[in-house]
Amino acid sequence: QQFGTIYEAIGGFDTIDRLVTNFYRRVGKHPALTPIFPEDLTETARKQRLFLTQFFGGPKLYTEERGHPMMRRRHLPFPITPQRRDAWLECMKAALEESEIEDPYRTAIFEKLTMTANHMMNTPS
Ligand code: HEM
Repeated sequence: QQFGTIYEAIGGFDTIDRLVTNFYRRVGKHPALTPIFPEDLTETARKQRLFLTQFFGGPKLYTEERGHPMMRRRHLPFPITPQRRDAWLECMKAALEESEIEDPYRTAIFEKLTMTANHMMNTPS
């Protein structure tokens, strides 16, 4: 277990759990996103909990189960346009607020996810 990480500072797995739940509730209702996501988001959310735990400095749960993250490659089957990137980030921004993750962590998390989301785009508008 690492200390001095965003993961620790925001309250560990319970907070990631809440964030991911609040995030996918929004994704499941967003008209730009529902066409590319499965109807049942249970498994998607479960993997995202593992990934974000690891991404913010917690235990390497995602890699233990799924191997190297290769996030861009894993997203290639899905057409991710600038509009979908914006929609994803909009859902995340609202979920961070709803989950009561406070600054400076809220901003730090959002900035890191924005960079990753930019990297995930693979389709022009
Ligand atoms: C999986 C869309 C950005 C992390 C997926 C899936 C879709 C998707 C459609 C497949 C869901 C499934 O079949 O269960 C998007 C869109 C994004 C985006 C539209 C907008 C830019 C991101 C970002 C991250 C991320 C920024 C991480 C910081 C993941 C993870 C999975 C996933 C961990 C599960 C991968 C696996 O199967 O192991 N995403 N994504 N995504 N996404 Fe994204």
